[in-house]
Formats: sequence, C-alpha cells, structure tokens
Amino acid sequence: MSDLTFNKVAGAVLATGLAIVGLRELSAGVFATEKAEKPGYLIEVAEEASGGPVAEAPIDWGTVLPTADVAAGEMVFAKCKSCHTIDQGGANGTGPNQWAIVGRKPGGHEGFAYSAAMVEYGAKNPVWDFERLSEFIKNPAKDMPGTKMGFVGLKKPEDRINLLAYLHTKGATIPFPAPNPAAAAAPAADAAAAPAAAEGAPTATGSTATPPATAGGPAGQAPAAGAAAAPTAAK
Ligand code: HEC
Repeated sequence: MSDLTFNKVAGAVLATGLAIVGLRELSAGVFATEKAEKPGYLIEVAEEASGGPVAEAPIDWGTVLPTADVAAGEMVFAKCKSCHTIDQGGANGTGPNQWAIVGRKPGGHEGFAYSAAMVEYGAKNPVWDFERLSEFIKNPAKDMPGTKMGFVGLKKPEDRINLLAYLHTKGATIPFPAPNPAAAAAPAADAAAAPAAAEGAPTATGSTATPPATAGGPAGQAPAAGAAAAPTAAK
C-alpha cells in the first residue's frame, strides 16, 4: 500500500518534470530565441552624441541667439547655481558672481581669487564673448587647463545656446553679433580649414576666428614658402 503511494508520488514528480522539459522544448520550437550578439543594452544615442562632427559644427551666434529659449536657458543655469550667483551684486561663492558675465573680462570680477589659468586667459582674451563662453562651458578643463572650475561641461550645443541667451539678459555689455549664415552654411569647409588656420594663425581664436580662418590658408603658406626659399637663397 505504502509502496503504491510512493510509486504514485514518484510517478507524478516524474511526469511533472517531463512536462516542464517538454514544454520548454516545445516553446523553443514555437518562439525562436535569438541570442544577443553583444550582451547588455546598445545605446546608439551615446555614440552619436560623442561624435566629432556634431560637436565641432560652428555655431552662428547671430542667427541662433535671437530665437533661443531663454526660459530653457534659465533651467540650464540651475546646474551652475551651486557655485555661482547671477543677480547684480550677488556674492561670490565657490565661483564668481555671474552678473554681466557676457562682455566681462575673464577673471575680472572683484573679490574673487581666480586661478592663474583664468588670469592668464583674461590677459590674452579681454572679453567673454559668446564663442569664448561657449567653448569654456562646453568643457572647462579642456578649454582652460588649470581652471578652478570643477564642472564637467555642457556638451549639447542647444543647452549652451539657451544658457547664453539667458546670461545675456543678465546685464550683458555686448549685443548679439550680426548673423553670419555663411559660416553656419559651410561647416564642412570650416572644419577642413580649421587645422590649416590653427597652423597659419595660432592667435586667431574666438568669435573672430571665421574671417582669419579663410585667410589662414594663404597666410599659413606664405611663411612656409619663405622658409623653403630662404636656405636656397643663402647657399
Ligand atoms: C563646482 C562649482 C562650479 C560650477 C558647478 C560651475 N562653475 Fe563656473 N566657475 C567656478 C569657479 C571656481 C570659477 C573660477 C575659475 C578659475 O578661476 O579658474 C568659475 C568661473 C566661471 C566663469 C568665468 C568667470 C569670470 O569671472 O571670468 C564662467 C563664465 C563660469 N564659471 C560659468 C559657469 C556656468 C555657465 C556654469 C553652469 C553651466 C558654471 N560656471 C558652473 C565654479 C563652478
């Protein structure tokens, strides 16, 4: 009797096991299971965002600023508030007060102990214009090695555009630049010209870089031709 019960139980367990295995096999036949080629999630967006061309495309400030979203820019500035006040006469915190930052001299706010890097930058670049601010805020440590500003940077161009439109409403001393659609229309040409310009005209930086950039080719070639000619002439 007890043997029979044991057999029944064992049979039931066996049958259940067989049914589970059988179902798995059956479902494998019905639903094709694909193996992921790479484990984990593939986030395409991240790759695109880190792509060079997007980040390097020149921004035509005169075109984008008048239509920028100032309210969105104020939201972006929330990231800066832990270190910067923006109101006129606001106190310096970890970073200097930002009133009238657009058009101010870099490292030029009273009562703030700037890094040597910022002081040096200010000596070379007398005005925080849109292009310089954008480049600095995009990646402070890269744009200004040695800066005290411990902020990772705003990688998205539209964040910087909206932010700068907002900062402009806070006591800016320079106007929006005139639109220069030609610069924005030919980003590829600009990008190609950039290395040549960098060699030919190392001092051309900031918003005025576009006109010298086109002149960079000939200007860059002139000394090279001269240098090549010089030894020949000397012999
Ligand atoms: C962790 C603190 C911190 C955060 C966050 C931060 N900053 Fe700064 N910022 C600093 C410090 C410190 C300096 C001074 C840098 C130096 O002297 O090298 C500075 C300097 C600056 C300057 C130059 C000021 C001048 O008087 O020349 C600008 C412009 C600026 N920050 C903008 C921003 C903006 C815009 C954001 C937000 C997107 C931001 N910062 C976020 C700490 C911060």
